[in-house]
Amino acid sequence: MKLSRPEFVRVRKAVLPDAGAIHGLIFEYARDYSLLARTLPEICENIRDFTVAEDGKGIMGCGALHFYGIHLGEVRSIAVWPRYRRHGIGGMIIDAMLAEADQHRLPCVCLFTRIPVFFKALGFAEVARARLPDKIYKDCKDCRRRDECDEIAMIRGRLPSLSRLEFDDKKSARRSLSRI
Ligand SMILES: CC(C)(COP(=O)(O)OP(=O)(O)OC[C@H]1O[C@@H](n2cnc3c(N)ncnc32)[C@H](O)[C@@H]1OP(=O)(O)O)[C@@H](O)C(=O)NCCC(=O)NCCS
Repeated sequence: MKLSRPEFVRVRKAVLPDAGAIHGLIFEYARDYSLLARTLPEICENIRDFTVAEDGKGIMGCGALHFYGIHLGEVRSIAVWPRYRRHGIGGMIIDAMLAEADQHRLPCVCLFTRIPVFFKALGFAEVARARLPDKIYKDCKDCRRRDECDEIAMIRGRLPSLSRLEFDDKKSARRSLSRI
C-alpha cells in the first residue's frame, strides 16, 4: 500500500556538504550488502553524480547516475531511509535521474538489483548480465559475491553495441585529429 508522501519533499542535485549524510545512508544498507559500500572520499569525488531527496531538515534518500561514456549510464547507490520508505521517494529520485539521463541524451541506463519489481514499474527491463561489460569490469571483478551473484541486470533504453562504440570512438578521434 502506498503511504501518503511527507508534506515537503524536495529532489535536487547533491552538493558537497551532503556527502556525509549520503555516506551514512549508503552505510546503513551496505551492512547487509543491499548496496555496494562507498567511502566518504569516493562520494565526495563523485558528488556530482548524486541526486538527493530532502524534507528541509535532512536527507531522506539518495541515488547516483554514473556515466560510463556516451553509450551508457548506471543508476547506483539508490536508497531511502527506512522511516521514509514506501512513500514514493525512491521513485521520485529515479525519475529525476532519468530526466538527467535524457538531458544528456544517454541512450541507455543500466543497474543491477535484487528488487526488479521496483525498477520494472519505472520503465526498466531485465537483460543478461553479460550484456553490460562496463558494469562487470567496474564493480563485479572485485566483488566478494561475484561467484554467487543474485542480482538482476536491468536496462532502460537501447543496449549499447560494442562495434558501434568502437566506430564512434574512431570517428571522434579522427575529428579531433583533423582539428590539430
Ligand atoms: C529501493 C528503495 C530505494 C525504494 O525506495 P522507496 O521510496 O521505498 O520506493 P517507492 O515508495 O517509490 O516504491 C514504489 C513501489 O516500488 C515497489 N517497491 C519499493 N521498494 C520495494 C522493495 N524493497 N521490495 C519490493 N517492492 C518495492 C512497491 O511496489 C512500491 O509501491 P507500493 O509502496 O505502492 O507498494 C528503498 O526500498 C531502499 O532504500 N531499499 C534499500 C536499499 C536498496 O536495496 N536499494 C536498491 C539497490 S538496487
